[in-house]
Amino acid sequence: MCGIIGYIGDRDVLEVILEGLQRLEYRGYDSAGVAVMTGDDLEVVKSAGKLSNLRDKLRDRHLSGRLGIGHTRWATHGKPSETNAHPHRHGNIVIVHNGIVENYLELKRSLMLEGHEFYSETDTEVIAHLIQRAFDTGYDFVHAVKIAVSRLEGSFALGILATSEPDRFIATKRNSPLVIGCGKDEQFIASDIPAIVNYTREIKHLEDDEIAVVTRQKVVIYDRNLEIVERSSHNVTWSPIMVEKLGYKHFMLKEIHEQPRALIDTIMERVDKSTNRIILEELENVSELSQVSKVVLLGCGTAGHACMVGKFLIEKLARIPVEVDLSSEYRYRDPIVLPDTLVVPISQSGETADTLAAMNEAKGRGAITVAICNVIDSTIARSADHVLFTHAGPEIGVASTKAFTTQLAMLYLLSLYLGRKNGKLPLEHEHDIVLGLLRIPPLISSVLDRLVELDNISHRFFHCRDFLYLGRGINYPIALEGALKLKEISYIHAEGYAAGEMKHGPIALIDEHMPVVVVAPMGSRTHEKILSNLEEAKARNGKVIGIITEGDHSTPQFCDEVFSLPLCAEVLSPLLTVIPLQYLAYSIAVLLGTDVDQPRNLAKSVTVE
Ligand code: F6R
Repeated sequence: MCGIIGYIGDRDVLEVILEGLQRLEYRGYDSAGVAVMTGDDLEVVKSAGKLSNLRDKLRDRHLSGRLGIGHTRWATHGKPSETNAHPHRHGNIVIVHNGIVENYLELKRSLMLEGHEFYSETDTEVIAHLIQRAFDTGYDFVHAVKIAVSRLEGSFALGILATSEPDRFIATKRNSPLVIGCGKDEQFIASDIPAIVNYTREIKHLEDDEIAVVTRQKVVIYDRNLEIVERSSHNVTWSPIMVEKLGYKHFMLKEIHEQPRALIDTIMERVDKSTNRIILEELENVSELSQVSKVVLLGCGTAGHACMVGKFLIEKLARIPVEVDLSSEYRYRDPIVLPDTLVVPISQSGETADTLAAMNEAKGRGAITVAICNVIDSTIARSADHVLFTHAGPEIGVASTKAFTTQLAMLYLLSLYLGRKNGKLPLEHEHDIVLGLLRIPPLISSVLDRLVELDNISHRFFHCRDFLYLGRGINYPIALEGALKLKEISYIHAEGYAAGEMKHGPIALIDEHMPVVVVAPMGSRTHEKILSNLEEAKARNGKVIGIITEGDHSTPQFCDEVFSLPLCAEVLSPLLTVIPLQYLAYSIAVLLGTDVDQPRNLAKSVTVE
């Protein structure tokens, strides 16, 4: 959480930093701030609240210079006030920080005993003091940073300026993301690629505890012994246009509409068109995959829901037992890793702290890891034994949409691949699923064309305080995902339940004020059972919104409102059923006037525990 950026070069430094912060705002928006080296002094301007507040403050105060850093905050230590906003300054040093210094209280206490005074409640300010302290004892900039960070426990990505160093700045990291962007006579650092992709696509990454000294001409990277490290750069395929709204009112809406394209990009390059079989080149030489005895799927939030769908797929298509665990639970529960256990961490950002730690826990216990990630060069992608990249493109809206459906797509491919490798999946079955998958993007497009039909439903129910979402089997995780989407962007309380569980508790909630959204596609083994659940809900005056299949004449009689989807095989149905649920949440949030792309209290990339 939190976004940091740094720039040195001939452009308008303030503009580069503010634009970068705007692209990083999805990481946190409790406060924002910049520091610019103006002549031989450093000017710091910060403001509580969103970046727009900072922009207002800077309107009459243009800071010009060639070097600067910026920060957008998701508060961890200390409330979201201007005082706690970054950059933090102490003496000669000004820093921005993403992460958490776990031992900051201990460090703060010992610094206070030495006479240091602190103005903020943050853990970050301690770092500025430690660097200044090393400076004061005669160390140069690089050594001072090294000495300071060697005392930190926890996670950090830092941009560091010193008034005495007008021509360079330092970046360093541990367990927090940071990329370096290289240009001609200009260099960038940022928490994420979208912040700098307008200026350069040439990216270098920094390993934990390395120190990058950034000047206009180049970036020199030192390892923890301060030996110079040669690091080559590579070009990213994300383009500036991909991080624009392109006429959509919100990124979330754009990203909902991008799903057919994202799925095509994720699936097509992995299908052999002449044989309709899956090719996963990334796993081609991994012989262990033919004898996997157990699969563990790990993720958080929406990625956790993808894991739940993955369980159905892998068990059905590859006949391998699957455990699903929330990353935050797995890492602390002394898990059993048997020989031949495959662990699949799923993460859009590739930076979620819990998923990274859970994966490392599994690796430490001998599991083989294959990550499903969207962000190239992210920490999870770099730390896993193997990676399958989804090609969703940058996802900017905080509520995940296209990342989810591309994670599902990758799980279909992985299930088919594992089933082929262990010989449990008949060839005809692989063909059927592949052909079905290839038909999904146009079917989604046809659904997208009709999404406005849901606006009437939103108008009818947007004032309700609670929603219940029901689904069964492979669509139970979709009910959970629909409820999560509604909660996070509209702030309406919503619960997802397995429909069969309704009469074991949640039925008590149902009355004429409770909309019940039911995911009930035709063709499932439990369709009839869901109809009984609907009857039970209707008998208690519940207002039923059915996500059903075109041509289904029995379900509508139990529904107050319906949205119909084209027919597809049950096993593929989650790719379709989730689309109206994403849009329903979006459309209700718009009616309620919430901040759809940056809902309160949330951040896109959860890099703290
Ligand atoms: C919900 C949402 C979050 C993320 C979760 C994991 O819309 O976006 O629940 O799915 O924080 O994030 P990643 O996939 O980046 O690990």
